[in-house]
Amino acid sequence: MRSLFDLRGQVVAVAGAAGAFGSVISQELIRQGCSLAIFDKNTDGLKQLASQFDSDRVYFRTFDVTEEAECQLALQAAFERWERLDGFVNCVGLFEIISATEMPEEIFSQIIETNLSAAFLMCRTAAKIMIPQKHGRIINIASVSDSISNPGYAAYAASKAALTHLTRVLAVEWAEYSITVNAISPAICDTPLTHSFLEQGNNREYVQSRIPMGRLLEPMDILGTVILLLSQSGSFITGQAIHIDGGRTIS
Ligand SMILES: NC(=O)c1ccc[n+]([C@@H]2O[C@H](COP(=O)([O-])OP(=O)(O)OC[C@H]3O[C@@H](n4cnc5c(N)ncnc54)[C@H](O)[C@@H]3O)[C@@H](O)[C@H]2O)c1
Repeated sequence: MRSLFDLRGQVVAVAGAAGAFGSVISQELIRQGCSLAIFDKNTDGLKQLASQFDSDRVYFRTFDVTEEAECQLALQAAFERWERLDGFVNCVGLFEIISATEMPEEIFSQIIETNLSAAFLMCRTAAKIMIPQKHGRIINIASVSDSISNPGYAAYAASKAALTHLTRVLAVEWAEYSITVNAISPAICDTPLTHSFLEQGNNREYVQSRIPMGRLLEPMDILGTVILLLSQSGSFITGQAIHIDGGRTIS
């Protein structure tokens, strides 16, 4: 009998795969027996990641998620390679913390475009492939900032709050096709995205002091939830934003 969390043989696409979360998720999904389509705008990072895997089980392609045509070509190519697409995990994101009065309009727009509008384009591209299959799992990596309000987070928090609500709406829209759509909302983690912010002033000490469990998130903290949401055990979980945050959003 297969285990409740068995992912062997599944085909999963990961966008933002060259990043900190995307790469550990990709490595874990390969360990779990999935075949992977990995995407990012960072070609060198993608190649480096793909080189760690058996070439039969990985397809990689550079793309900019803000271009819907590129998303379509990439996900369609992945589908054609294995003739199925079981899961899509969106790990793309931008993070800029700037006070509202100082924030250039272009930065605000760029964050909304990458974290929200591109997520919409990617999710619907994946769904158009999954709807005829009548099966699929979509995961957006959101953030605790979907629920909490910190100074300087106007663009980032607005993009993540909207992303979790987008996730709920898409979950309702595609439920009839047995497609689940969920968000994972992690607490802050020291990655290339956040490192310079954490190094400024007493930011690291401050954010750590706000997490009841007393530490920052590690990328591997989110892996079990990714497996759950992609597995048979996750088949009736949809429209949720699962906070993995050491208690940050309840304190
Ligand atoms: N690091 C944290 O503290 C933290 C906490 C909560 C949520 N998140 C979210 O998790 C996700 C991943 O974060 P991370 O820390 O791994 O960041 P990261 O910077 O390491 O990875 C993000 C990846 O997205 C890619 N990317 C950015 N813009 C792109 C575009 N237009 N087209 C294609 N690829 C693009 C980057 O090249 C990078 O590889 C993001 O959505 C982030 O907001 C991060």
